[in-house]
Amino acid sequence: MMFTMFHLTRTLAIALAFAAPASAQQPAARIKIDTDRVIGEVDPLLFGNFTEHLGRCIYGGIFDEGSPLSDAAGFRKDVMAATRDLGVTMLRWPGGNFASGYDWTDGIGPRDQRPPRRDDAWGALESNRFGTDEFLTYCERIGVTPYLCINAGLGTVDMARKWVEYCNEPGDTALARMRRKNGRQQPWNVKYWGLGNEIDGPWQLGHKNAEDYATFALEAAKAMRRADESIKLIASGSSNFRPGYDWIGWNRTVLEKLKGEIDYISLHTYIGNPDNKFEKFLAISRDLDDRIEVVQGQIKAAQLTAPNPRPISIAFDEWNVWYRARGGSEFEIGRTGLEENYNFEDALAMSMFLNSFVRHANVVRMANLAQLVNVIAPIFTNKQGMYLQTIYFPLAEYAKQKNRQALDVQVESPQYKPDGGRALGYLDVSATWDPRARTVFLNVLNRSEKMDLATRIANVEGRISPQAGVWQLYHDDLKATHTFGDDRKVRPTEKTVTLAANGNALSYTFPKHSLTILKLKLAD
Ligand code: AHR
Repeated sequence: MMFTMFHLTRTLAIALAFAAPASAQQPAARIKIDTDRVIGEVDPLLFGNFTEHLGRCIYGGIFDEGSPLSDAAGFRKDVMAATRDLGVTMLRWPGGNFASGYDWTDGIGPRDQRPPRRDDAWGALESNRFGTDEFLTYCERIGVTPYLCINAGLGTVDMARKWVEYCNEPGDTALARMRRKNGRQQPWNVKYWGLGNEIDGPWQLGHKNAEDYATFALEAAKAMRRADESIKLIASGSSNFRPGYDWIGWNRTVLEKLKGEIDYISLHTYIGNPDNKFEKFLAISRDLDDRIEVVQGQIKAAQLTAPNPRPISIAFDEWNVWYRARGGSEFEIGRTGLEENYNFEDALAMSMFLNSFVRHANVVRMANLAQLVNVIAPIFTNKQGMYLQTIYFPLAEYAKQKNRQALDVQVESPQYKPDGGRALGYLDVSATWDPRARTVFLNVLNRSEKMDLATRIANVEGRISPQAGVWQLYHDDLKATHTFGDDRKVRPTEKTVTLAANGNALSYTFPKHSLTILKLKLAD
């Protein structure tokens, strides 16, 4: 783990150096790149997203029947274009909490004959006009990988098995005939299936203890694999980090029982800044790293006792900033639940998550921002159009780093203790490497609210070209937000600069509260 050894030896000196009031620039940070220290490939599925039947995500978000902004299928064309530009690779559906009360058979067949149902997860009315075939058509249309989450709350093993058969059966069964009658001749071949959503949370319909969940999920997994043995399964891991809840025990039980069947275990984390302390907010990376590393260790422990261990990765399949906008309880379609209006500091928080995923690229192989449109989302619509929220821009830029090699860079930066707990560095860093283009993308979040940090960037072997690409997200006002007709305030700048060189090292000053992605070309 990159901040450890180097930091330990330097902590005292750095603490003393920064005890004095900060001047505008202090040349105290150092980053060392070593292209031999490859962590793993940045899986394209790290740039997944999530669409739930909740508020205006589906209805009025991606699907708006009769709108002049939609195509003949009812898909909003402006949202599809913005989703493509965001670099989204995967979409998870239908929930979320919604999944735990959902009967997929309600959402197939002629639309006008589908039954309206109570959505008791969110206290809404579900028309079922958007269902499995609409979702899978949508994914095909925008070129992303679908990921379906079964109902492991109030649902049954047989419902899950039949859903796989309906989607993926190539032969002539009653369910395959039904799919064909509904317009889809060839199997959809849905590869990724979630074994339920947040079953560890008491807020979940059909919440269970770990043993009961694992028993259900094991039988569901075996039955679903009978319908299609090629599918990949994601177990419901920890989402409940409330004090006193044994989240580590949950994962231990789930992994022990399911290690022979699953390909991923999920983690969910939402964060916020309710007490308005910027540096504390951006220190949550410690929790993200901890959660990932604990589960990574648990996977290893489970595999050690398996005769033919199956590779298991982490799917961080819900993550975002979410703490201001909560759901209402009105019983109507399209109510406005969870419509967070994101600001500049939230955009910086995106990079904290993504840096953590990249630093753990050898185990985090899927991640899904929650969610895509309107509901805690980077894209926001109304009947007349849409705008891009502040968080859109770092997400889109990081997505360009898919398939690159994640590098274990060495980082030394002034430290702080936001809540009297463990110290952490002001610079939160990840890096990716494209060996063919010999380019390193250095992703640097300066989470100091007030200090610019002059930094020496060295390459262990060889020279870095001083001509560097600089992508930067900065705004004076941490609380700057976007709205309709005014979404250009928090936008990245891009330029090529010539950095001051000193031997094989370069100097760059990362501005206070900023995200910078340096594109550095290494000499042959
Ligand atoms: O994304 C919003 C909700 O957050 C999801 O439905 C649930 O899984 C999580 O608690």
